[in-house]
Amino acid sequence: MSVREAGPRDAPAVVLLHAFPLSGEMWRPQLEGLSDRWRLIAPEIVFNEPSVDAAADHVAAVLDELGLADAVVGGLSMGGYVAMAFWRRHPARVRALVLADTRAGADTDEVRERRSRQQQQVAGGDTTAVVEAMLDSLPGPYTKANRPEVVAEIRRLMEAATAEGITVALEAMKRRPDSTATLPTVSAPALVVVGEEDSVSPPEVAREMSEILPTGRLAVIPRAGHLSSLEDPDAFNAELASFLASLP
Ligand code: MLT
Repeated sequence: MSVREAGPRDAPAVVLLHAFPLSGEMWRPQLEGLSDRWRLIAPEIVFNEPSVDAAADHVAAVLDELGLADAVVGGLSMGGYVAMAFWRRHPARVRALVLADTRAGADTDEVRERRSRQQQQVAGGDTTAVVEAMLDSLPGPYTKANRPEVVAEIRRLMEAATAEGITVALEAMKRRPDSTATLPTVSAPALVVVGEEDSVSPPEVAREMSEILPTGRLAVIPRAGHLSSLEDPDAFNAELASFLASLP
């Protein structure tokens, strides 16, 4: 199993699920910044079939493999879709839920069509067009103008994605169910994080989610776009640490 880990083995476990089209490596700033107090676990999202439920079940298998009965489960964007599916399928294993730069709603027809076009673009094995489009839309304007090293890191992470991986992830996202009715069932403490400049899952979407969640708490990361954990790791880590420290 492909899993990055940091922190004491007996510390409370925090599983972080990555965005599309990135990998568990995107959580390096969290593994480095938070592993003094928590056991950070960043698995690859594995789609044994194109569904967020299958990916959630794989996360449960990762917990089994690590001998963990439960964990704080968090995800950013696509990782959030999987985290919501994990709550639906394995609620007893969720100590708390972290939903970052994500949305509960299913894809609109327009988004599904865009994803189908992206699947066609990578069909020959060349991921360049998809990577360039995502590089344009995911980081916020402040990051694009002022954090060239972060943009370069996002590019590096995206360029490592394979055409096959992109295709199956797009299919799983197209098929994912609407999770809006799931949110009121989340009895675990929940944190919703969003970059102030996130144009993919904007702050108003995050605010609504935090209001629907029974114990939802909202954190807005200033001067960050859709990849808030990478764009301003210090601010993201401070919000996550404060939430984790508040847990019983
Ligand atoms: C992501 O960051 O995981 C993607 O932007 C999610 C999506 O395309 O819905």
